[in-house]
Amino acid sequence: MGLKEVSSDYTVSIHYDRRLYRQDVEGSTVHARMLAKQGIIEGSEADAIVNGLAQVRSEIERDEFPWRPELEDVHMNIERRLHELIGEPALRLHTARSRNDQVALDMRMYVKDAIDNLRGLLGTVRDALVSLAEEHRRVVMPGYTHVQRAQPVLFAHHMLAYFEMLGRDAARFAQARERADVMPLGSGALAGLPYPLDREWVAAELGFSRISANSMDAVSDRDFLLDFHAAASVCAMHLSRLAEELVLWSSDEFGFIRLSDDFTTGSSIMPQKRNPDFAEIARGKTGRVFGNLMALLTTLKGLPLTYNRDMQEDKEGFFDSEDTLTATLQVFAGMLRSMKLNEARMRDAAQSSYVLATDIADYLVAKGMPFREAYRVVASLSDYAVEQDRHFHELTLDEFRQFSDLFDEGVLEIDIDRSIGARDVPGGTSATRVDEAIVNARQELEVGNGV
Ligand code: ARG
Repeated sequence: MGLKEVSSDYTVSIHYDRRLYRQDVEGSTVHARMLAKQGIIEGSEADAIVNGLAQVRSEIERDEFPWRPELEDVHMNIERRLHELIGEPALRLHTARSRNDQVALDMRMYVKDAIDNLRGLLGTVRDALVSLAEEHRRVVMPGYTHVQRAQPVLFAHHMLAYFEMLGRDAARFAQARERADVMPLGSGALAGLPYPLDREWVAAELGFSRISANSMDAVSDRDFLLDFHAAASVCAMHLSRLAEELVLWSSDEFGFIRLSDDFTTGSSIMPQKRNPDFAEIARGKTGRVFGNLMALLTTLKGLPLTYNRDMQEDKEGFFDSEDTLTATLQVFAGMLRSMKLNEARMRDAAQSSYVLATDIADYLVAKGMPFREAYRVVASLSDYAVEQDRHFHELTLDEFRQFSDLFDEGVLEIDIDRSIGARDVPGGTSATRVDEAIVNARQELEVGNGV
């Protein structure tokens, strides 16, 4: 490769920014119509431009568009092709516009659409979580802290915890969309433009709620992308935590779930293996989503006002995070819908452990003992039971009474179902509260149309 080719390839972005073609065509169409409306170009010229752009779009969508790397980016490619198609009027399209406000516009439009799609997918995954909760309303499992069995909970309650997390993600994406929803056209290269533009009209036509307030900020602001990356990162982190649980739960050690064959792979050497590859890859992809946030922050940190070509580097990481999250959410929707629970095994894990220790302490508290003292009594009781390799329900009343004479028959009735039922505070794991939470979740999905 000669020096000439190396140096020209280096600045080319067409292989990735062609994804912006729809936004570019739409933005140019409205810009041309505004120019005519304001008497800056002729109505007939605007008509020619608008028709030509429709043709460009259709060529691109039919995969017949002659993409030319030597024209560097999507904006130059489309403008040049327009000129080939309609001639002279194309030369007027770039009046009162710069690629600097043009690319800012295209990215903002694209991000808004991308967020709408991601919010739709978040709704699908949240729906799958609620369905799991509904289908397994009364399934009991141990809840964990420190990956140690802690207290019995309903599996549905566990699923709805993720419903909450992904709900906050949907809200964060909505906030990022709000930031992107500012129309920058009219800023020109950096200082505004010496034409009587109707920026508000352009904003309304393109579905923006407001116009940018400062032309210098408008061409150099990529905060809306950072907001996207931040929301994407938190969301990827949540999905990674869920992935981790699915990996653990599908192991022989837990044996709580069986992932469908569509989301596992056999080992090439160990025939018995069903590896949870999809969950693992979802967990692994989190790194690149975080990385894309860091990459853009780093790209932007030393840039003086206003536009600098460095900003072209905002695109690949953004598209990558969009694609990664889109695919990951699709995988989760399928993986959650198709997984099978081993309810007996989950219940057994809760049963054959010491998860009722807190309930026994609470029982003593109900008899009048201060909680700290009850805690101490039950700690000794647990040591005793563990030493004998017996569970609480295998101890006799006499044995209980060796630790406190406040124990009576009632202590023998403490079991995991009562323990769960007793946690009847708002936000708690009792069946009543979880049923309520399911109703609320369903309502939330309906109101937000799943997003
Ligand atoms: N491809 C460029 C980008 O993505 C478009 C803007 C170019 N502007 C310029 N003044 N060279 O940032």
